[in-house]
Amino acid sequence: MLIKRNRGWERPEQSVTPEQVFNDRRNLMKGVAAGSIIAGLPPALLGATMEEALAAEFKDPTLDLYPAKRNLRYKPLRKLTDPKSALTYNNFYEFGSHKRIYRAAQRLPLRPWTVTFDGMVEKKTTIDIDALIRKMPLEERIYGLRCVEAWSMVVPWTGFPLKALVELAKPLSGAKYVQMQTFMNPKVASGQRQSWFPWPYTEGLTMAEATHELAFLATGIYGKPLGAQNGAPLRLSTPWKFGFKQAKSLVRFTFTDKRPVSFWQKLQAREYGFWANVNPKVDHPRWSQARERVLGTDEVVPTQLFNGYKEFIGDLYAGIKGEQLYR
Ligand code: MTE
Repeated sequence: MLIKRNRGWERPEQSVTPEQVFNDRRNLMKGVAAGSIIAGLPPALLGATMEEALAAEFKDPTLDLYPAKRNLRYKPLRKLTDPKSALTYNNFYEFGSHKRIYRAAQRLPLRPWTVTFDGMVEKKTTIDIDALIRKMPLEERIYGLRCVEAWSMVVPWTGFPLKALVELAKPLSGAKYVQMQTFMNPKVASGQRQSWFPWPYTEGLTMAEATHELAFLATGIYGKPLGAQNGAPLRLSTPWKFGFKQAKSLVRFTFTDKRPVSFWQKLQAREYGFWANVNPKVDHPRWSQARERVLGTDEVVPTQLFNGYKEFIGDLYAGIKGEQLYR
């Protein structure tokens, strides 16, 4: 069981998540302690080491595409996070509202998996994930991820620009936003059986953001296909925005002319907004965003505007007035 002591800069988890989520987390941790949660794992994973649990049973059909060539345009903000930290300290509320969901997430069946493009598109289409990945220009990018909870990591993602997927989906000219949706499978995802959450998890971007060069869809991490806990087989990576924007295990891209309301916004609109751009000067209503804890080393460093990607952002937000761009 994870025992967490809060340092001066850290917030108790009660202040990060709604109260009922926190209470649920406590119940879940009690369940883990009692063995009931772990006991729900497939026999092959019972008592497995981390490596065994992560490699278990599933052979990714796109394995031959890894590792992809690194794109050197995107320089690491800091030293790479060690894989163990990035692969075993996760947020994936579908599998629990605590950080150690990596084993429970292995229950997610990763194939067959399809991705649907709908809403304001020339033609609604559903495509098999392996066909999609093989059509796309895979590359590796080292990106920082800054969680709204004030921790961060720097990892090599493999994937392709979201822009390439938008071109494949062929949205109509009137589309202004794209909404991304995570899988819905309460049979394997215990969190989705908790009805106070507005499942499925969704997030949205403007078309300008979705076609921006930094917006990336990850299919892999550390030179291998993604594990379920990091959002296999397809997750969003928008490094200038808080981590909660970076929706995992995507199944649907809906193009629309109405601004989508995301999962976290539906839960707590006062705290989590549409834009969610990183800015150290704009605090979360309940804690400072000035600094962050680096995953793996626990070093505390200053947070940067747009998480250090300001030079790439340029005039993306020019002309937007009266909006909370940083929440
Ligand atoms: N996507 C889904 N579907 N469900 C989630 O709970 N959590 C988000 C984001 N994507 C989340 C999600 C949050 S809060 C963060 S910080 C990142 O995933 C964490 O990504 P990681 O676990 O790969 O580090």
